[in-house]
Amino acid sequence: MKIGIGSDHAGFDMKNELIGILKEMGHEVKDYGTLTNERCDYPVYGEKVANAVVVGEVDCGILLCGTGIGMSLVANKVRGIRAAAVSEPYSARLSKQHNNANIICLGARVIGIETAKMICEEWLNAEFEGGRHQDRVDLIMAIQDNQ
Ligand code: RB5
Repeated sequence: MKIGIGSDHAGFDMKNELIGILKEMGHEVKDYGTLTNERCDYPVYGEKVANAVVVGEVDCGILLCGTGIGMSLVANKVRGIRAAAVSEPYSARLSKQHNNANIICLGARVIGIETAKMICEEWLNAEFEGGRHQDRVDLIMAIQDNQ
């Protein structure tokens, strides 16, 4: 899978660790920054990854900030994105199976690297179940068209 990854300064170290782990898993990873641990604004990098997912430059995205919350707020502003902030593997798996999340957001100040790895594995290996869940995803996506 081709994965777009991005973070702010709070997620920078974990992003770098995850890039290595994801490559070891056999994925292609495109890093959208930030590229140093200097303080920066997470919306800049969240938007870059979300846009890359929407235009199909990458298959899916992983975003990291301190809590994962700011990045999820940003990504969900981009039309076509379903971003889930997750902190354990069960929700990560269900965010794909039921919600067809195309981005997950991790809190580097909330979880450790081993949990982050398990979350990524569960999410990347899970498949959207469709059926009644497709109907619900359609209802979610219709909201933006009704604004
Ligand atoms: C940065 O201090 C922090 O606010 C950011 O990483 C993130 O947690 C925001 O949601």
